[in-house]
Amino acid sequence: MPSADLTLDPHFTVGRVNRRLFGSFVEHLGRCVYDGIYEPGHPSADPEGFRTDVMELVRELGVSAIRYPGGNFVSGFRWEDSVGPREERPARLDLAWHSTESNEVGLDEFAGWLEKVGSELMYAVNLGTRGVLEAVDVLEYANIRSGTALSDARIKNGRVDPHRIKMWCLGNEMDGPWQLGHRSAEDYGKIASQTAKAMRQLDPDLELVVCGSSNAQMPTFGSWEHTVLRHTYDDVDYISCHAYYEEHDGDAASFLAVATNMDHFIESVVATADTVRAELGRTKRIDISFDEWNVWYNTRYHSEQQITDIERWPTAPRLLEDAYSVIDAVVVGNLLISLLKHADRVTSASLAQLVNVIAPIMTEPGGPAWRQTTFFPFAITSRLAVGHALEVRLTCDTYETKAYGEVPLVDAVATHDPETGRTAIFLVNRSLDAPTTVTVDVGRLGAVELLETHTLADDDVYAANTLTDQERVGVSPNPSATVADGRLTVELPACSWTALSLG
Ligand code: AHR
Repeated sequence: MPSADLTLDPHFTVGRVNRRLFGSFVEHLGRCVYDGIYEPGHPSADPEGFRTDVMELVRELGVSAIRYPGGNFVSGFRWEDSVGPREERPARLDLAWHSTESNEVGLDEFAGWLEKVGSELMYAVNLGTRGVLEAVDVLEYANIRSGTALSDARIKNGRVDPHRIKMWCLGNEMDGPWQLGHRSAEDYGKIASQTAKAMRQLDPDLELVVCGSSNAQMPTFGSWEHTVLRHTYDDVDYISCHAYYEEHDGDAASFLAVATNMDHFIESVVATADTVRAELGRTKRIDISFDEWNVWYNTRYHSEQQITDIERWPTAPRLLEDAYSVIDAVVVGNLLISLLKHADRVTSASLAQLVNVIAPIMTEPGGPAWRQTTFFPFAITSRLAVGHALEVRLTCDTYETKAYGEVPLVDAVATHDPETGRTAIFLVNRSLDAPTTVTVDVGRLGAVELLETHTLADDDVYAANTLTDQERVGVSPNPSATVADGRLTVELPACSWTALSLG
């Protein structure tokens, strides 16, 4: 049986785990908002039309900041369509997703929903087809207390207190030719800098995210970050990364190793940001907002689901409704490990998306809401990864992949909370057929015992939770885990994700 050895020391920290690492994303896309979080006719709907069964799952998932309202959607969006009396709000064509946007839910309603679920709003402005003034306008509407045209309009619309939105994204995926108003790095860098400066004139304490590359395979990857940061370094706090992964041509071995690609992506963007820092002679560091990441069967979307018929602009169509399997959940757990390993520089991240659209939570109109397989690693990591991420030393066997060459069979990270003394260890076994025994030297943690163990695995790695079988896959305690004489041993089933809590 393959084996792995792990050593950890609570003094060797990577960085503090920022709660914003466990963020998510709600875009006006498909059934994420309409028939997802919002369904006025649903038996569980509250007086505002929001499904309370979905709200309960969102709270259980433990999501911090939620990015809104897009995504590709935002580059064709007029924010002012989405506020004010509902009956006066225009229905618009959403060119990005070839749908009709009713604007029934907008900034004020979404901010109210976030208060109910206990999450923070991270708002994206449109820098594709709009510019500096519209960005400042929505900031004035949202954050100024009163006494101006737009803040008074918000009060008239029933929202007396300002929304106090701290985190703002300066557009979305502006490097992508698919983006409405796509720009070159030079052009985008200039408008992002101007917009950031104007927004800071209104509120200097905002946290601003400039667009990085849409993925690490973009032909402009690297040079895009360099040029954009040369223009915006003094104006912003974060640069974004986006990455979606899927299994290609039945190559599950490579798919299970995609977190190595995320590691490389993060390290490359950090290197580029630090290069610009050196070039400009600055001391401030730019952090990463990994504000779209997930498994997404993107090729399926492009071949089967994309709507192109110009006679048909459906409202809330079923788009990007991937059903996630065990292997997808193992990959999601591994991507969370990658984010935690870089907690010193990745200080915000958003699982894309939250409900129905490539989401951990699914719903049926008038029917149930349920947890996808990917729900479990996210919810458990969000709850247990508290304090500091630790630098762990891992020795293990490797295997060969077509996409990423030789990769470790096991991946791991640990966190330690000095306040409670609790430690959490997160592990994946990437082997498709062999269990792996992991031995962890926990001697430097003092006398500890196991508090919780959770493993996600199944004989069928493609098993999923569906409308007709909503609880097919879940997590179970791992009875093999034991701690004795400063050593923890645990057996990881083939293709599995595990979390252990010690204290
Ligand atoms: O999350 C789905 C889409 O993926 C987003 O709208 C876009 O930003 C990205 O390409």
